[in-house]
Amino acid sequence: MQIQQNVSLRNLNTFGLESEARYFVEAKSVDELAVILTDKNWNNFPKFILGGGSNILLTKNIDALVIHPDIKGIEKIRENDDHVWLHVGAGEVWHDLVMYCVASQYAGIENLSLIPGTAGAAPMQNIGAYGVEIKDVIETVEAISITTAEVRVFTWEECRFGYRESIFKKELKDQYIITGVVYRLNKKPVFNIEYGDIKKTLQEMNVANVSLRTISNAVIHIRQSKLPDPAQIGNAGSFFKNPEIEKSQFELLKNSFPTVPGYAVGNDKIKVPAGWLIEQAGWKGYREGQIGVHERQALVLVNYGEGTGQDIKMLSEKIQDSVEHKFGIRLSAEVNFV
Ligand code: EPU
Repeated sequence: MQIQQNVSLRNLNTFGLESEARYFVEAKSVDELAVILTDKNWNNFPKFILGGGSNILLTKNIDALVIHPDIKGIEKIRENDDHVWLHVGAGEVWHDLVMYCVASQYAGIENLSLIPGTAGAAPMQNIGAYGVEIKDVIETVEAISITTAEVRVFTWEECRFGYRESIFKKELKDQYIITGVVYRLNKKPVFNIEYGDIKKTLQEMNVANVSLRTISNAVIHIRQSKLPDPAQIGNAGSFFKNPEIEKSQFELLKNSFPTVPGYAVGNDKIKVPAGWLIEQAGWKGYREGQIGVHERQALVLVNYGEGTGQDIKMLSEKIQDSVEHKFGIRLSAEVNFV
């Protein structure tokens, strides 16, 4: 392992933001991670873990040892008539795993096609799309402690998954590096096509037989039509979470804004699409120099090339203030600010 100095992180974050790591090292295995984490020379030096970089906003240089885990490998570890269990290295590209599962007829993550990021980052924020969340297919998560290099296996319950949340983003924030995940996929698929535009898109694509492949293709088609490709325009997907408000607050909102959409969450909360709130506040397609709000999805902030993390942070605060002023709802960020 080679420790480099003053390394640009621009190609390691999907926003494409410039930020320099004072020191940088890539670890290809759990053993390599353990070596770095127990190295006496780096004992008291601050460490920063940078995974797939698909959910962060880099607002400054990182004055730390940046560790970039890149552990690969997809291995079938168990199967029965109904399920197959895959052990997946945290550094596997998420969409590659989806494509592998679709080709192998393993069901469960086809609705999560084309989400940027890695298989290891996925549980961190319980990625989700089109009616499926990653928590639905996770068996266990393996991680290594940043302070002690102790390896630990987290059960599903211990991960404490919530909407775009897990223990790794909350109580154990900055304490563990996810190194691998065991996913449990279905050999007897249950298709999940009721959500959003999937059914309509399958019809438009003249699909006669619904299959993992055709669902995946439909999701790819929907995402490509709405969401910017990070390889072309820097972004981190949804910038904010969809707020969940009390039913009573939603009713009041509906009185003033009769077209406001909302989806019930449990018995007394309503989830309101942040994209709608931001669009209604007039931000959709807004551009300010090198940054802006995507023209087809108001929940996505974009970097057209030379924007900075600070610029995006300031824009996100303006959006929060304006949405709060108009609707009385304070949006909270889904991306992690650094
Ligand atoms: N909407 C607007 N204007 C917009 C965007 C959205 O009015 O510019 C309204 C529409 O009413 C639309 C509704 O918002 O029907 C929902 O929009 P969309 O289906 O695009 O989904 P979303 O709620 O904006 C969430 C996830 C996405 C995921 C999609 C599809 C969050 C924060 N985001 O977005 O996840 O792909 O659903 O399931 O929950 C991500 O987390 O990075 C991400 C991309």
